[in-house]
Amino acid sequence: MRAVKLVSGMRVRYNRHSETGKPFGKGDDMEKKVSESRIEQVYQVRPAHLNGAGRLFGGRLMEWIDELAGLVGIRHAQHDVITASVDNLKFIRGAYLKDLIVLIGRVTYVGRTSMEVRVDTYIESMDGIRKPINRAYLTLVAIDEKGCPTEVPGLIIETESEKAEWEAGIRRREMRRQRREEGF
Ligand SMILES: CC(C)(COP(=O)(O)OP(=O)(O)OC[C@H]1O[C@@H](n2cnc3c(N)ncnc32)[C@H](O)[C@@H]1OP(=O)(O)O)[C@@H](O)C(=O)NCCC(=O)NCCS
Repeated sequence: MRAVKLVSGMRVRYNRHSETGKPFGKGDDMEKKVSESRIEQVYQVRPAHLNGAGRLFGGRLMEWIDELAGLVGIRHAQHDVITASVDNLKFIRGAYLKDLIVLIGRVTYVGRTSMEVRVDTYIESMDGIRKPINRAYLTLVAIDEKGCPTEVPGLIIETESEKAEWEAGIRRREMRRQRREEGF
């Protein structure tokens, strides 16, 4: 069940999601906007970042993506987080020495203790034009002092694209659940 509250104009709150129909979350005072945890980070590719083929090493980019997603999760949850899964990690094109790499992370969906974070990676040319090189969806789980999953704030949806991401996030969550059941 999903409770949707119209707040004002386009602003919609998607703050409860439970397959059991049982409401959960931290309450209306603990909802946060997507923009409150969004992070943009820039790196320049240096020699130490290259693989044998002279391109940005995929593992390095994955580290940057995981780190950024974790920071977005910490900002939203206001708790430590751990990465539960990474999916839709697509390498669209390579990056090379001195390229400027821009990563943008934002929360797209929240469950009870988990958050889906989308990270888009671009190469930015000197004239500021960005070409996408990677898109990933990560699931972060907030943990308490004992390392146990703990509730996260709901998400306030303000734009059509945030709404579309939320709806797609529901489908991705279901796919992940099915994969877990199948043992992946
Ligand atoms: C992530 C982890 C805490 C989940 O433990 P668990 O016993 O399945 O806990 P729960 O069943 O209470 O699930 C907690 C949340 O994680 C989600 N989750 C669990 N496994 C998941 C997976 N593989 N992919 C995506 N989400 C997952 C659940 O859907 C649930 O979300 P919700 O509360 O929003 O509904 C546990 O698998 C773990 O500690 N994994 C290792 C994480 C790690 O060390 N990462 C690398 C370093 S950061």
